[in-house]
Amino acid sequence: MTQTYVWDRFIRIFHWSLVAAISLALVTGFLMGADALVWHLVGGLAATALVVVRVIWGFVGGTHARFAGFLPGPHTVLTHLRDGARHLGHNPLGALMVLALLTVVVALAISGVFALGGLFKTGPLVFESFAAGRTAKDLHESLAWGLVVLIGLHLGGVAFESWRSRENLAAAMVSGRKDTRPGDLAARARAARPVVALSVAGLLLLSGAGLWSGLQSRPISGAPVAIWEGTTQTECSACHMAYHPSLMPAASWRALMTDLRDHFGEDASLPPEMAAQITDWLTAHAAETADTLPAHRLGRVEPTAPYTLTRTPFWISTHADIPDAVFARREISSPANCAACHADAETGWFSPFSIAIPKETTR
Ligand code: HEC
Ligand code: HEC
Repeated sequence: MTQTYVWDRFIRIFHWSLVAAISLALVTGFLMGADALVWHLVGGLAATALVVVRVIWGFVGGTHARFAGFLPGPHTVLTHLRDGARHLGHNPLGALMVLALLTVVVALAISGVFALGGLFKTGPLVFESFAAGRTAKDLHESLAWGLVVLIGLHLGGVAFESWRSRENLAAAMVSGRKDTRPGDLAARARAARPVVALSVAGLLLLSGAGLWSGLQSRPISGAPVAIWEGTTQTECSACHMAYHPSLMPAASWRALMTDLRDHFGEDASLPPEMAAQITDWLTAHAAETADTLPAHRLGRVEPTAPYTLTRTPFWISTHADIPDAVFARREISSPANCAACHADAETGWFSPFSIAIPKETTR
């Protein structure tokens, strides 16, 4: 039987690279914690870049890559449902799936960048509010579930069509070739324009970088106050790291500062003037004044322990997977020693990109 070259090299590389990138993003997003966010971004960025290039190729690629050759109108879809004719390229239902998958990946990228900006003040949108970031994250999560459903349907569709037309469609996406059969429907032949595609991709990259650096000049929304190298730093870091004021609400700091004589079983009392100065600074820059994730999450304290960070519901749920033995390691010694695992703990940021649990050293 004669064969036709259907899927060009770009389409095939694109397809399987997208599978890898999306798998990485889904696994890190659904199954792993904040410390894996960097890999989630690698997967998501790669998928986005691939989709952008695929969209360009959809306008200037060859016969079976062009949207004009395979995106169906409603009439074509209905006809296909009725006669089920074999298409050499994407059949009308497959084409709708391609469109849906590309759209959802783009929507995931956009909502992801908004979430990254609002929740972590990272990326091009650091001026986003935490609230906007949370909305974007909820949308991002729903879209990710939508993507999982679409992938399931896509696999089902490929399996069904492979069975129905007795050809291995997944193998065709590897070799690029399909048997030619009588009655095949094929799109109008079109020449690929790789130079145009590359130029457009280059232009997009440049304007993206320009837009990013333009946005970058806008100030971060609700950044925590810079560390004060004064009394708090010295007096409150005598026994443990100095906790950033944005980690607790003002009322909690006030309660802590009035209980210094009985401070977690220690006497941490200070001369009244110094205590007043520290209280002023802590309450002036408390959780209410910052728009960061730790300020919002840790700021919701456990009422029976209003100034114990490690008893806040958020702290407990975020660190639930870490075994007690890890906290007992010599380099960590206590769950309250945030700085052992969060390199930026003293700044109040707690960026997901600064988390590293120290390895056990042999004693
Ligand atoms: C033993 C190491 C360790 C210690 C000690 C520790 N953390 Fe964490 N923390 C982690 C890890 C790992 C994660 C990521 C968990 C996840 O998302 O599944 C995390 C996540 C967080 C997050 C969420 C980060 C984000 O960007 O989403 C915050 C906030 C946080 N920790 C605050 C604290 C505070 C406050 C302390 C001290 C009172 C503390 N942590 C002590 C290991 C630690
Ligand atoms: C004399 C030693 C000492 C001094 C000085 C001290 N603390 Fe503490 N602090 C402790 C101990 C011990 C704990 C319990 C730590 C643990 O659970 O491992 C603690 C815990 C805390 C916690 C709760 C951490 C958690 O478990 O979530 C906060 C907040 C805190 N201290 C703030 C302060 C501030 C603010 C000052 C300065 C006014 C201060 N501390 C000075 C000994 C001290």
